[in-house]
Amino acid sequence: MKFSKNILCIGAGYVGGPTMAIIALKCPEYKVTVVDINEERIKRWNSDDLPIYEPGLLEAVRVARGRNLFFSTDIPEGIRAADIIFVSVNTPTKTFGHGAGMASDLQHWEKTAHQIVAYSEKPKLIVEKSTLPVRTAEAMERILSGNKKNIHFEVVSNPEFLAEGSAVKDLLEPDRVLIGSQQTESGLKAAQVIVDIYAHWVPAGKIITTNLWSAELSKLVANAFLAQRISSINAISALCEKTDADVAEISFAVGSDARIGSRFMKASVGFGGSCFKKDILNLVYICRSYGLNEVADYWEKVITMNDYQQERFVKKIIKEMFNTIVGKKITLLGFAFKANTGDTRESPGIYVAKQLLEERAALVICDPQALENARKDLAGLDHGVTYELDPYRAVEKAQAIAVITEWEVFKKLDFEKVFSVMQKPAFIFDGRNILDHQRLFKIGFNVFPLGKPSLTHF
Ligand code: UDX
Ligand code: ADP
Repeated sequence: MKFSKNILCIGAGYVGGPTMAIIALKCPEYKVTVVDINEERIKRWNSDDLPIYEPGLLEAVRVARGRNLFFSTDIPEGIRAADIIFVSVNTPTKTFGHGAGMASDLQHWEKTAHQIVAYSEKPKLIVEKSTLPVRTAEAMERILSGNKKNIHFEVVSNPEFLAEGSAVKDLLEPDRVLIGSQQTESGLKAAQVIVDIYAHWVPAGKIITTNLWSAELSKLVANAFLAQRISSINAISALCEKTDADVAEISFAVGSDARIGSRFMKASVGFGGSCFKKDILNLVYICRSYGLNEVADYWEKVITMNDYQQERFVKKIIKEMFNTIVGKKITLLGFAFKANTGDTRESPGIYVAKQLLEERAALVICDPQALENARKDLAGLDHGVTYELDPYRAVEKAQAIAVITEWEVFKKLDFEKVFSVMQKPAFIFDGRNILDHQRLFKIGFNVFPLGKPSLTHF
């Protein structure tokens, strides 16, 4: 079959894989190839055991794979053949050198830019998909235009707003698609090419075009605002625990104000995920580098509050279990940073597990999708850890349960059965407020919700 355009995506991760699957699904006349340096990952994309778990993803991949969606490790050939290249490689926070712990590590991204120059034989449109510091597109353009082949590369920014666990839905029905380009004739033309892709299924009113820098910065700001809401309600949850107010009632009452809105107001053990912390640190770093220290301090507090919330959760477990958890069996229900994903990047579960292990608890970790990642996260520290898929087995002889992730399956457990196999007194620390606390209390548990009065039998 003759395809009207060749699209390449470099980086087959959480962003690149699902985004390209949906583009291929919705645009059968385009050939979409996803490449990665990680052979194992590509092998799994070519199987039914996809490397990431997202509801609806396998179904979408099955429709398009082999038709107009291809996964490969042949990066040079992919680049040569492409008209449009989405760059979706990882840009984690730097762990070394200048800006360590704050700035983005752009080594993968820069390598990609050099590869594009090395293998290109014709002009291409380069699309930034990875979240990047503002003005990265400019740097990308500099690397690309430094080529001796006289090939023109136009760079546009098309930040991804999908959330994990709902990636397919977010891609199919996005709140908006953002496309930033240079406001030159060739820049605007390039933006239109990307608009045309999304116009296959996204209503025109939801496709926003801006200048390059606004698009890049919008992504950081959107994530900073979302994270800020969670830190705001988490801060209030601490106050609720002191005053016997109920944080869920406050969320509801406050969120009913249409100006505030009800979403993203659930108190939790803390936000995780690959984006929030990284993007805020990035924003903070950028602000500081422009001498905007007050602005930087303001956003940094969102992270301080998130760290505090996780610490508070662990301290509460220790305090309520009579100030010692040495040798006590504690079951973490959930390890993923949110439900419906196996991703554990920046999950509060990592911090909680490490702290509890430091206090010499015997940990059991139970998660329907994240055990493989949990093992990697705790490698070397996990002599006291058991990994268990079955929640009923996970709670056998446990003294406490700590809910880390809001999986549906945990809400539906038979807690009478759970209680009957646990040691007494039995404790539940609900880091997500997903359980029926009154009922648990009646069964016999000592219940410690977040931002609500505790229910104890002593
Ligand atoms: C986020 C943004 O939502 C998305 O637009 C962007 O593209 C990537 O970053 P993601 O990290 O996948 O997506 O998940 P999200 O649903 O935003 O949740 C982030 C964290 O906040 C999770 O740990 C979640 O459990 C937590 N959270 C979310 C709360 O604690 N309370 C809430 O009310 C909502
Ligand atoms: P994200 O959440 O941003 O999608 P991931 O870590 O899930 O991040 O995915 C990024 C992917 O990019 C990984 O699969 C990684 O192997 C891949 N990658 C990194 N550098 C390169 C490169 N130079 N060429 C091709 N793929 C790369």
